Amino acid sequence: MTRFAVTTFGCQMNEHDSDRLTTVLARANGEAVQDPADADVIVLNTCSVREKAEHKLRSEVGRLSLLKRQRPDLTVVVAGCMAQQEGDKILKSMPAVDIVIGPDNIVELPELIAQVRLGGPPVVRTVFDVDAPQFLTAPVVADGRATAYITTMKGCNERCSFCVVPYTRGPERYRPSDQIVDEIVRRVETGVREVTLLGQTVNSYRDPLGLLSPAPNASPDDPDESEFAALIRAIAARVPDLLRIRYVSPHPRHLTPSLMLAHRELSVMPRHVHLPVQSGSNRMLKRMIRRHTREEYIDRVARLRQSVPGITVSTDIIVGFCGETDEDFEQTLSLVEEVGHTGLFGFKYSVRPNTPARKMDDDVPESVKSERLQRLFALSERLLGQHLRGLVGSRQKVLVEGPSKTNPNNATGRSEHNEIVHIERAEHVEMVGSIVEVEIVEPFKHSLLGRLTQEAEARLPRRSVEPSRRKLPLLGPKS
Ligand code: SAH
Ligand code: F3S
Repeated sequence: MTRFAVTTFGCQMNEHDSDRLTTVLARANGEAVQDPADADVIVLNTCSVREKAEHKLRSEVGRLSLLKRQRPDLTVVVAGCMAQQEGDKILKSMPAVDIVIGPDNIVELPELIAQVRLGGPPVVRTVFDVDAPQFLTAPVVADGRATAYITTMKGCNERCSFCVVPYTRGPERYRPSDQIVDEIVRRVETGVREVTLLGQTVNSYRDPLGLLSPAPNASPDDPDESEFAALIRAIAARVPDLLRIRYVSPHPRHLTPSLMLAHRELSVMPRHVHLPVQSGSNRMLKRMIRRHTREEYIDRVARLRQSVPGITVSTDIIVGFCGETDEDFEQTLSLVEEVGHTGLFGFKYSVRPNTPARKMDDDVPESVKSERLQRLFALSERLLGQHLRGLVGSRQKVLVEGPSKTNPNNATGRSEHNEIVHIERAEHVEMVGSIVEVEIVEPFKHSLLGRLTQEAEARLPRRSVEPSRRKLPLLGPKS
């Protein structure tokens, strides 16, 4: 039996791939261990979206090469986006590495490990499965969690000029809708009540099987129309016990009327969207090849809010992109203020290999990037603070996920608007996977404190009922 440890860097898709790496290795008679020091095979599942992630890999491999001097039988695998991007360059520059494997070649890993451990030479496998895309699923086990990520597509066709993802994850390939629905059905049987649909441009989805009925409000002549709303409707119809469907990350241009209507009509759709914008300056958006203007983004959000009053919007922003002036950056601040984003991931621009922007001059000094990022975060904190304070006294529907990390006497979960809500003195075991109504009593910096309403308290199942036997939510969302 081979003992293996997987270390993950990066985004939710990588977390997800690590689950699948673990599954593939466990099926091939491997045993997962927590501590890499106990492992025969160490897999580093890497990220390359910013240079910082690359530095992390280098320092980790540096550490492992010391370990390998003591234990020459140790096998080191580099997987994920860095593997795809750098291929055999990794073997050349990091001699401690034995195997380099891309995201689409995960199933081949046990065989490659066996070859290397029998004395074979180091290997590189980084081939996209363009002709016959594979979507591996980790086994569905009841682990007590109420939320799960579900892959709907891989790759990206957008080619935003700064972004390495199209080169590390390849072109868009969509998972058949029946597979997506089946996985959600199985997850819900184990107690999951909220799924997050995952994809690089998740709302460009099209069913390769052509099984979905067109969604209401879909306009086939619009080049930005997709079948994402139809997929959401199919999931909602076929999995009635599911309480929430979230998704990351949509591209603004595919936020079409059919998707807005799904948000409005379906009770499983929460009142929040994460909608990356990257910049508020049209000049920058053009250089970034985002394929929409500032005005179009603002207009889409306005129409979404008309459709779903009170919906909250969070975003991703890059500061210090090539040629960004103070004036451009001010436009980003003014866009965030105007839209009133209640959550924001901000990044300093980092030049990536193979991307169109690497030919542009990365001319904003590091100190200016840092200062802009700080100003952006200060604005974001202010907007979030205002938003959270405004919710005191209101009632929110919270999907309970488990005990609060900071205070085990409290339960924690997320509201429809995606705020993190801690619920005072609540017996979380009884409530995990339920939507409960909570009155907000206090704002924290990034979250809220709430208390169960009397009605919600009265509806709590009696303690004699096993949580796994409870099928129905305490309250339907948006009821
Ligand atoms: N569509 C993907 C985006 C992947 S990258 C998703 O589903 O999340 C995540 C975020 O990283 C982007 O939205 C962007 O804000 C940021 N980013 C991407 N490339 C970058 C770069 N070269 N430098 C700095 N930030 C970058
Ligand atoms: Fe990257 Fe733009 Fe696609 S940010 S993942 S190229 S939508």
